[in-house]
Amino acid sequence: MDIFEIEGPVQLAGTIEVAGSKNSALPIMAAMILPGGVCKIPNAPYLADIQSFGMLLESMGARVARDPDAALQIDSGPLNNPVGEYDIVRKIRAGICILGPLLARFGKARVSMPGGCAIGDRPVDIHLRGLRALGAQIHLEEGYIVAQAPPGGLVGAQIFLGGPFGTTVLGTDNVMMAAALARGTTIIESAACEPEVADLANCLNAMGAKIRGIGSPRLVIEGVSRLNPVCYRVIGDRIEAGTFMAAAAITKSSLEIRNCPINEMLAVVDRFRQIGIRVEESAGGCRVGYAGTLKPADITTQPYPGFPTDLQAQFMALLALAEGNSVITEKIFPDRFMHVAELNRMAAHLRKEGPSVIVEGVDRLIAAPVMASDLRASAALVLAGMAAHGTTTVQRVYHIDRGYEKIEEKLNAVGARIRRIAV
Ligand code: EPZ
Repeated sequence: MDIFEIEGPVQLAGTIEVAGSKNSALPIMAAMILPGGVCKIPNAPYLADIQSFGMLLESMGARVARDPDAALQIDSGPLNNPVGEYDIVRKIRAGICILGPLLARFGKARVSMPGGCAIGDRPVDIHLRGLRALGAQIHLEEGYIVAQAPPGGLVGAQIFLGGPFGTTVLGTDNVMMAAALARGTTIIESAACEPEVADLANCLNAMGAKIRGIGSPRLVIEGVSRLNPVCYRVIGDRIEAGTFMAAAAITKSSLEIRNCPINEMLAVVDRFRQIGIRVEESAGGCRVGYAGTLKPADITTQPYPGFPTDLQAQFMALLALAEGNSVITEKIFPDRFMHVAELNRMAAHLRKEGPSVIVEGVDRLIAAPVMASDLRASAALVLAGMAAHGTTTVQRVYHIDRGYEKIEEKLNAVGARIRRIAV
């Protein structure tokens, strides 16, 4: 298990390149089950989660490899075992989104219920509601979801995917992929509008699907009889981009963020500007700069286009140093506050009040040994460590490797002092 040793405070300067989006690439890897041929993602990021998802596809018979140009290549022609085993799916929550494609292509699937994780239990009831609406018979058996399509295959339907927290990103993905090969037309009401869902829809259309309303909460999917293999580039990772923008802000620096999907980050840019951070669009992405102050700001996480829950922890680390009090409310994953106690160990003044955290700004953070918990909380600890006085050690760095490609190499190249130590 690796740990990070992070010296602070540091000043950053230079350019950071954002990788392809993890949360686009994962469902698009699942979609590559559908055509039963050789597909490619030229800019799939090098992440533990991508590796794990590749192993899941291989466990079902697909062939997954990087070609000489580093493109991720998936051949689902040999895929013949529509089973998502527990010991693989438990490592990769997004594994749930093989359910729809397996049902659509093979008419049956047996996929392990995903386990819980540090940000809360991860129910899939809305996924199952949507797939049942397409005619699937689904029951739970020894921790597995066992699904069977009707004899003639899935049938298009009008489906509402709303839930207590708005809607579901991977649930929309699952139903959209299943509906792409269903007989007839499917209308998904209250579909997730995240850019990564739109990216999947565009990839499916490139395969020959007929999906309209992309980016809106109402998707109209006209089922087709087959889909063709594609080579598809995913969008830039807006969460990695927001994390690096926060790195510039918290270290009172300026950075050029290349391949930053700034047009899909308006809620995030709005909060940075509220805090007093300069954000300007530039040729390949954006330029972010500290402008002499960190003002407090209130944040409530919401489904897209609202403020993304995946940047809540990183902004909490930043606002811990603001000149005043901020309130951060988590509306998507109410338990997503594992980073609060760890940041308080670094002399932040954070107080949990139900679904919110009151952030009382302090002058400085003090380095301390801290523990990573979930992917984004871990990134928040790295940000805090770069601003804190002294040497911060972050345990369980594997959480970070799940969603950030060589984060310490990218940050050290612009002035951070992060050492990865194998222990
Ligand atoms: C996706 O998870 C992302 N993961 C998450 O990013 C992200 O935080 C989340 O969307 C919200 O934007 C990937 O894309 C791989 P949801 P997903 O279904 O689809 C509840 C990261 O850090 N819900 O939109 O699993 C659920 O409990 C990860 O990259 C149900 O109640 O999230 C949550 O409260 C973390 N029933 C809310 O909806 C369901 O059937 C939103 O969850 C499904 C979800």
